[in-house]
Amino acid sequence: MVLSHLERNYDRCLAQLKEFIAFPSISTSPEHGDEMKRTAQWLADHLTAMGLAGRVMQTARHPVVYGEWAGAVGKPTLLIYGHYDVQPPEPLELWESPAFELTERDGYFFARGISDDKGQLFIHLKAIEAYLETEGRLPVNVKLILEGEEEIGSPSLPAFLAANRRLLAADVAVISDNPMLGVGMPAVGYGLRGLAYAEVLLDGPNGDLHSGRFGGAVANPANALCKMLGSLKDEHNRIAIPGFYDSVRPLAPEERETIKNLPIGEKFYREATGVDALAPEEGYAAIECIWARPSMDINGLTSGFQGEGAKTVLPAKARAKLSFRLVPDQEPEAVLDALEAHLKHILPPGIKMTFIRHEGAHPAMVDRSDPMLETARRALEAGFGKPCWLIRQGGTIPVVSLMKKVLDLNTLLLGFGLPDENAHAPNERLLVENFRGGMRSIVELYRMLGGM
Ligand code: BES
Ligand code: MN
Ligand code: MN
Repeated sequence: MVLSHLERNYDRCLAQLKEFIAFPSISTSPEHGDEMKRTAQWLADHLTAMGLAGRVMQTARHPVVYGEWAGAVGKPTLLIYGHYDVQPPEPLELWESPAFELTERDGYFFARGISDDKGQLFIHLKAIEAYLETEGRLPVNVKLILEGEEEIGSPSLPAFLAANRRLLAADVAVISDNPMLGVGMPAVGYGLRGLAYAEVLLDGPNGDLHSGRFGGAVANPANALCKMLGSLKDEHNRIAIPGFYDSVRPLAPEERETIKNLPIGEKFYREATGVDALAPEEGYAAIECIWARPSMDINGLTSGFQGEGAKTVLPAKARAKLSFRLVPDQEPEAVLDALEAHLKHILPPGIKMTFIRHEGAHPAMVDRSDPMLETARRALEAGFGKPCWLIRQGGTIPVVSLMKKVLDLNTLLLGFGLPDENAHAPNERLLVENFRGGMRSIVELYRMLGGM
């Protein structure tokens, strides 16, 4: 009944999703503040129309949208989290259809946010709506928090959760903001990496210099930056900051065994990225490196002459943005302390360094002994008619560790994206079949959790 209701109302569902997707809810962009408010208001109105008493709750920056249905007395309460903010769509010229226009082709939906995370959170809304419109009730109680700052590291969320502990009290958190293992391979996630992010500004001479008149005698900030950044990894692809691995929890032998037997491996990553060789940390398989080992990436690098042709200049400044993906039990602050100390230690004479810290997030591991995890697995198997995998993931969702720390909640991580969905990139997509399978799975999940 609920499932056939979803089928019957599929066109209406897509029309609403199209409206939701059309808001350019780009959290990082200061010019989009009003769009963020409009998106939040649209969502809150949508929740209210569904019977969830939607409301927009202010934070220091972008609002949280809250809604709830509490009519299942004696049944578990799910705290469903999603984020309505998206990454900037640039470079626009690489999109095959407009970024904020929901477009279907080749079995995929395309649009910014369709997988990350507007499309995925919409799956929950429509599953809830299908219950309320057919049975007039849900098998569980639901509370929804839909935030607008995930893509900028959820800076307002710790205070928001702490200030609303009673409102948000629940039995488990549920999040769909992550990929499955592959097509036809639904998965429950049990681990996410964390993040530490820094910006390094090096300043040398007062202004750009003629490299013939000064080069060789005056320290060049671009040279210095390259050398300093080059010291962060060694020839074994290990991070070479003293003490960096001290609090890294090793992969369990069973995890390594499971990873060995996964149906996706190095070939998938080579083909998905177009590189002819991977560069994993020595001694680890590529998937181990992505899921369960820390990594360091330079995210942006600027200095000197960027125009056509040659210019003999000794630049006055050099800048880098860099980040680390962290695994349990690493702490973002401690990692940045170690990085800053190391860079200060090797800073050459004649160069000044400014070290800026950006929003980070803790790594997260969920409690795998929670019987609800097994329920989630069965729900996904029912929704997709395929075996469900238990996996870790390399991305970061700051709220997962906060759910545990602030609200003492375990999290069910069941996403419907795919590893090659172009998240954060042009032509972000979501497999239509995963959108539909996702709705079926969530309908099953609520029913099964209601029976516990
Ligand atoms: N949905 C992703 C996180 C994700 C990606 C989880 C892949 C699992 C697998 C999320 O929206 C995201 O992009 N997070 C940022 C977090 C950061 C801004 C604090 C990330 O991982 O870069
Ligand atoms: Mn996301
Ligand atoms: Mn994202």
